[in-house]
Amino acid sequence: MKMKKWAVLVAAGALAASLALFGCSSGGGQDSGAKSNDGNATDAGYTLVNDGKLTVAASLDFPPFENLNGNAPEGFEVDLMGLLAEEMGIESNYLPSTKFDTIVPLIQTGGKADVGVSGITITDERLEQVDFTDPVCDVNQSITVLKDSGITDVAQLEGKKIGGQSGTTGFQWAAENIKGAEVIAFDEMTAVFAALQSGQIDAIAVDWPVANYYVKNAYTDCQIIKEIPTGEQYAIAVSKENPELTKALNTALKAIKDNGKYDEAVAKWLS
Ligand code: ARG
Repeated sequence: MKMKKWAVLVAAGALAASLALFGCSSGGGQDSGAKSNDGNATDAGYTLVNDGKLTVAASLDFPPFENLNGNAPEGFEVDLMGLLAEEMGIESNYLPSTKFDTIVPLIQTGGKADVGVSGITITDERLEQVDFTDPVCDVNQSITVLKDSGITDVAQLEGKKIGGQSGTTGFQWAAENIKGAEVIAFDEMTAVFAALQSGQIDAIAVDWPVANYYVKNAYTDCQIIKEIPTGEQYAIAVSKENPELTKALNTALKAIKDNGKYDEAVAKWLS
């Protein structure tokens, strides 16, 4: 019993030493990592809506970033939030799926969730409502059509019906860039794909990795005809009232990028 305790202490000491070393070699002289490694959320100066938990609001319809497997959230950002919370000495906890265009306002209002994590692109408009962490992923938009539609080019979409998820950058891109298009908004991504299959719309504008996932795994009668280089960056949305949480998340993000866990999650979900 005594031996085991010692072994744990020695291991913990070695881990702390190696983390400190890592922090020194890559932290540029700043004390980044100190807060997240001591696992004491209350000392870190941020608030949480539920003690010891990082409560996450997400629209769980955006694989491979976040999706429902039965009742359980899964995906790259779900793993990411678990890793960040672990690094901060707390646990991540997902709320039931939330309509995408309500997430940023919900974080802005506060009280329900600590963070919004939903493939949320950093935009100037959203930056007026919430803070964002450092980027967690880079993505482009895409156009998807039915394979047998005869549509092979974006130019052919002039005056056609384009579907997108309400309040998204894809929806906005289509409205601004496809001449004379009628852009139709849906609450859920699966509803957008169902509308394409039923002929209600002619094309979908959505983030490329999500279109790629859906056409490969579920909607095999659809195909991506174009990747649109919008150069978007996803990040975690945090209330402007909780700047220490943004800082702690950034410190944790740096730590998991340094220790390889971020790359493991990328390899698992995004390659
Ligand atoms: N990246 C796009 C945006 O920020 C789409 C995000 C949609 N996310 C979702 N979980 N359905 O507008």
